[in-house]
Order: sequence, then C-alpha cells, then structure tokens
Amino acid sequence: MFILGINAYHGDASAAITKDGQLIAAVEEERFNRKKHCAGFPSSAVRYCLQAANISVLELDHVGISRDPSAHLHKKILFSITRLPNLSGLIAARLANAAKVHDLREELARALGVSPDIPAKFHKVEHHRAHMASCFLVSPFNRAAILSIDGFGDFVSTMWGIGENNHIDVLGQVEYPHSAGIVYTATSQYLGFPKYGDEGKVMGLAPYGRPRYLEQFREIIRTDNGGFKLNLDYFRHVSEGVDMTWEDGSPTIGRIFSEKFIETFGPMRLPGEPLASIHEDIAASLQARLEEVSFDILNKLHQETKSDQLCLAGGVAYNSVMNGKILLNTPFREVFVQPAAGDSGTALGVCYYVHNIVLQQPRSFVMEHAYTGPEFTNGQIEGVVRRTDFGCRELSDQELTLLAAQAVADGKIVGWFQGRMEFGPRALGNRSIIVDPRRAQMKDILNARIKKREPFRPFAPSVLEECVADYFEQTHPSPAMLMVYQVKQDKRAVIPAVTHVDGSGRLQTVSRSNNPRYYQLISDFARLTSVPVVLNTSFNEDEPIVCTPEEALNCFQRTRMDVLFLGNYMLWR
Ligand SMILES: [Fe+2]
Repeated sequence: MFILGINAYHGDASAAITKDGQLIAAVEEERFNRKKHCAGFPSSAVRYCLQAANISVLELDHVGISRDPSAHLHKKILFSITRLPNLSGLIAARLANAAKVHDLREELARALGVSPDIPAKFHKVEHHRAHMASCFLVSPFNRAAILSIDGFGDFVSTMWGIGENNHIDVLGQVEYPHSAGIVYTATSQYLGFPKYGDEGKVMGLAPYGRPRYLEQFREIIRTDNGGFKLNLDYFRHVSEGVDMTWEDGSPTIGRIFSEKFIETFGPMRLPGEPLASIHEDIAASLQARLEEVSFDILNKLHQETKSDQLCLAGGVAYNSVMNGKILLNTPFREVFVQPAAGDSGTALGVCYYVHNIVLQQPRSFVMEHAYTGPEFTNGQIEGVVRRTDFGCRELSDQELTLLAAQAVADGKIVGWFQGRMEFGPRALGNRSIIVDPRRAQMKDILNARIKKREPFRPFAPSVLEECVADYFEQTHPSPAMLMVYQVKQDKRAVIPAVTHVDGSGRLQTVSRSNNPRYYQLISDFARLTSVPVVLNTSFNEDEPIVCTPEEALNCFQRTRMDVLFLGNYMLWR
C-alpha cells in the first residue's frame, strides 16, 4: 500500500511516501526549485517520491495533505466576522489556499500533468495532528507525551497530548491569536532579522546577552491555564492584520510587532545595522522566556501523562537550545525530535496519520535517520565530473574517508557529498562542508570564503556517539543536530571552532549504524588527531542545501572550498 503525504501552500512545501508503513522518501520542494522555504505545491518533490517508490500516481492508494481548512472552522468564521475590515486581504488569501486544499486531487493532477481521475483516496489532516503524527508515530516509543509548537497552522499554535501505540489523544491546545512561535518571529523582525526562518539567528545571538528584559517578556507572553496567552497590545496580527506574501516562491511575513513593542524597547534595529548589547539582551530575554513557557507546558504535560518519554514537533522544536535543556528542567528522560520537526515534516506526519490512525495499521517504522532524499550513483557522478577541469581521482571506500580526514586535519575546507540527501534543515553528513574544529580561525575562514553568515552565529560539531560524554555535559543522543549541550570545560579549548560564546555546542551524534561512511570519516579524523569531532555545516552558499552533483560542483566552483568528495571521487582545484 502506497501513501503520499504533502505539505502545500505553507512554508517548506514537501512530500513523503510510504510503502506498507515503511518510509521510501521524504524531501522538501526547495531542494529542487532552489527557492528557500518555498510554499506552493511541491510538484518536484511529489515526482521524486513517485520515482523513488517506482510507481505512477495511479498506483497510489492514499494521498493526504497537512491542512484541514474545516478544522476549527467555527472559530475561524467568528474571528473573520469580528475582524473583517482589517483582515480582508489575509482572509482572501487564506480562502484561496483553502480552496486549493479542497481541490487536492485536481492540484495534484495539474502538477503532474495527468488527468484528474486519480483513484487514490484523499485525506485532509489537521496541521498540528500532522505534526504530532510526524514525531510520535515514527519515534522509538510505544507510549510518549507529545508537544507540537509553532507559529500557526489551521488556527492552532500549540497542541499537546499522549501517544500510545497507534493512537494519539489530544489533551490541550493554544489557538490563534496566541502563539509562542509568533513572539519569536515578531522579536526577530524587531531585531532586524525579517526573513522566514531567521529565528535561528536570534537563538544564536541570545548567548551574547543577559536576560534583563525577562519581566517585559513575561508581560508579552503570559502563562495561562496550562498554556499561555499573548498580551496583544504588543502585536499587530489581530488589530491590523499581517499579510504573508510569497515573493519569488519564498514566504515573507509582514511586520508583526506593534508600536507598544517600540515604546518598550526603543527603535527597531534595521537589517544590517550594528548589533548593540541591547539587541543581545532582548534576544537573551526572548530565549529565556520561550524556555520558561515551554518547560511550564512540559512539566504539566509530564504530570498529566506520567510518561518519561517526549516527542517534540513544530517550528519551535528547531530551537535546539531549548531542546537541550529539557532533560535538565523537566522530569522527561528521553526526547525524540524528528529531523524535519518543522512544517516540511508534516508531509511525513500525514503518511503515518493515514497509515496508523485512519487505517488502524500497527506501527512498524522508526525514523532513525534523515537520509530520505535523492541519491546519485558513482556512474552518474563520474559523468558530471568528467565534464569539469578540476583535478579528479576515483578512490576506494577506505581511501575516501582517510583522504577526507587528512584534508580536514590539514585545515582544508572539505565538501562532502554522499548518499541520500537529508530531510529537514540540517546537513547531517551527506550534503555537508567539513572542517577542523580544533582551529579557532576556521569559523572566520568559512565565513569569509563560503558561508558569509553573521559573525555571531556558531558552527556545529559532529561527534562520534560513543565519545559524547568526553566532550559534552549531557549524553542523550542528538542524531538530527537538534540539541545544544554545554561543551565540557576542559574541551572548550580543544574544539574552539564549534564552541559557542556561552560554552555550548549544537551537536550531531553520529553512529556507525546511521551513517557508516560519515562515521568512518570522523573515526579516521580521530585517529589522526585524537579528536572524534568535526565541524559540520550545510553544503550551500546562501541557497537551499545542494541536492545534485551538478549543484555541489557549482558551489565548489563559486566558492573557495579546497577539495570536494563527490561519492567516491575526489576533486581539487
Ligand atoms: Fe507548523
């Protein structure tokens, strides 16, 4: 049985496909059309999923989308009627999107250029139920508490509950206009980071500041009856309406924070203006308040569910600083965050919602890694490589990891393109740029030569799973690079390029079973240097992560990367 899950008309459009409950493929549309966080319909991602499953669209048994415009309908109508003069533009855009969700069969047929007589059964899965399914149903837990927390989806911003076998019971939710994700986005805009997905930059800025505006943020987002409520005086999304536009396919959100925000904190920082200590302190206060609110919900959720296992999803689950503190601030003992915890992951959630909950099939799959995207054979890579003027050599598997490790140890910037592309925002050793974490200057070199990121943003370490305790204060696995832990005091000087200003690191734990080739590369590096850690950043230059060998080569050509390992081929300038 084939099930296709789709996230469409929402940021990070994506598709996923399962066969008899096993995940065959999951991928974001941005990797194909090269438009960051693109929305719209994920035509190329769907085509890839069908190709990976080796079927035509007519062979699909079920198709689902992670939107249900009829969910919470009475609240939406009530809200629209009371605010219509201010919200008409937004409501019109939402109605247009809702109509497309209703016509999913036609939209899918149009995207694939086939007739709309697609025999599959079509489903609409409410956004947060898709988020909850995307983590719990592919987690290693039979029973777990679940928290989905983001900006908004289907009029809800936060939903929590309990999962058991193939059931999910919703225990509570926070509805529009109240949203922790919106507070983070609004403050990011105020701090001069207005782009969709810029919240991660503010999280990186926070450790430079002190949370001296915590009281103000406690006023902006108040704890309320098991959840939270916004003080709407600080926001425009209700009083004036905030439009989301799709310029060139990538989403842009209008200004969310109100004049009251400016009265409280002073003039906003414009993008590109120098960062002052007030900006760092606001970021630190925001981060501290997000953690307070989240741990408050999680502590109550633990009380209610009596489960020591937690599954996390939603855009706020990309806040790896918060994730890394959960075990320290709540009674939970194990945390599962699916690699595509944000909206792209809802396509995966739809597949398993339909499989396990609608069709009542038993659970049979655990998502142990994120390598669910396109891959290319050495033969295909050779065809691409031969057309270039770079130095090139084919290597055995053993030579490949040894030479790559040697290049990293020699201070080279190494492109590393192997196997199937990652699902979710993090490069996890298949579409990565790798450098030596022992060299403090590598951060500036990487930024000057390739990444061009803001200098305050940290780079992340990949560490062999069995060595985590030697380097970090916590040891709970972090295979999707979605946990930030403190680096041990005596190791901070050993791996300065991946130790943030507050002594933390957003680590990826690498096991032999999840990624044998990447594991071998780090092991070879450890043999050369006695350090089982490398710096791992995504293979891109201000664009979506590269997907194909051609894109990897283009990036190599444009930037000042030193050496590129494409499958079993080594290329140099
Ligand atoms: Fe979401």
